[in-house]
Amino acid sequence: MKVGVIGAGTMGSGIAQAFAQTEGYEVYLCDINDEFAANGKKKIAKGFEKRVARGKMDQEKADAVLAKITTGTKDICTDAELIVEAALEVMAVKQQTFKELQDIVPANCIFATNTSSLSITEIGAGLDRPVIGMHFFNPAAVMKLIEVIAGINTPKEMVDTIVKISEEIGKVPVQVEERAGFVVNRILIPMINEAVGVFDEGIATAEGIDTAMKLGANHPMGPLALGDLIGLDIVLAVMEVLYAELGDPKYRPHPLLRKMVRGGKLGMKTKEGFYKY
Ligand code: 3HC
Repeated sequence: MKVGVIGAGTMGSGIAQAFAQTEGYEVYLCDINDEFAANGKKKIAKGFEKRVARGKMDQEKADAVLAKITTGTKDICTDAELIVEAALEVMAVKQQTFKELQDIVPANCIFATNTSSLSITEIGAGLDRPVIGMHFFNPAAVMKLIEVIAGINTPKEMVDTIVKISEEIGKVPVQVEERAGFVVNRILIPMINEAVGVFDEGIATAEGIDTAMKLGANHPMGPLALGDLIGLDIVLAVMEVLYAELGDPKYRPHPLLRKMVRGGKLGMKTKEGFYKY
């Protein structure tokens, strides 16, 4: 199957890797220009280099997977059977991206979005085909879950197809109805937002908060380190959607989170968030 992944950032490149390392899948990894797309592939190659150096992967396998990833702008998706959109978390950008893709891809190509909290129904409004949510988790090549999200116009057969594809690429799909934040982000992101508040109140250091949650709740990472991994801009975007859609003040983004995003301290991707990288 030929899969067009739109957006070659952290999530897009991880998603491209997840497909490309499965037999029978080829990937078009796309971004707004060739350079951004090529950088996404470089990110994957760098990860492979580390795994080869640690003896976890052989060079031949790494080369074979990379050879299945073609990079460019979305115009190269002319024979894609599935699109997984992982562009900016901005409704207008996602809608415009799919609108343009309608004229590029075949009529039976499935439109899936990796949105972390936006409405699947709204993303699909006005398009010539329905949209489905195929929500991966960071790091996408490693994390097992895919939330398969049906919007109000998503047909059951499309849900079944995405469930099957998710299993084929070694993931565990969970079917979810559309509601802000779906399941994981509805629960996880407010927890990270709360940790920002605990940090801001000086109740413990960032290391203290993360150690407490790792050892006291058995989380693999502390919430502040996880916020840095996800990207604090994404954390803020999800909180904004939860707050706007659900209207409950418990979803108010913490002012420190806003301040850090405004100051460009987005976490790992900008080399500074709650920690320095
Ligand atoms: N990219 C690619 N691969 C990575 C990676 C990354 N950023 N980080 C780790 N890995 C790989 C490693 O290469 C290793 O693979 P290997 O064993 O085959 O070599 C494997 O993952 C395990 O890594 P490590 O042994 O180095 O480290 P850990 O065992 O501590 O695992 C972790 C790292 C998987 C990131 C783990 O700490 C974890 O599960 N953290 C929580 C992540 C999480 O909660 N993600 C969800 C975020 S929410 C989200 O994404 C939704 C969005 O909409 C906001």
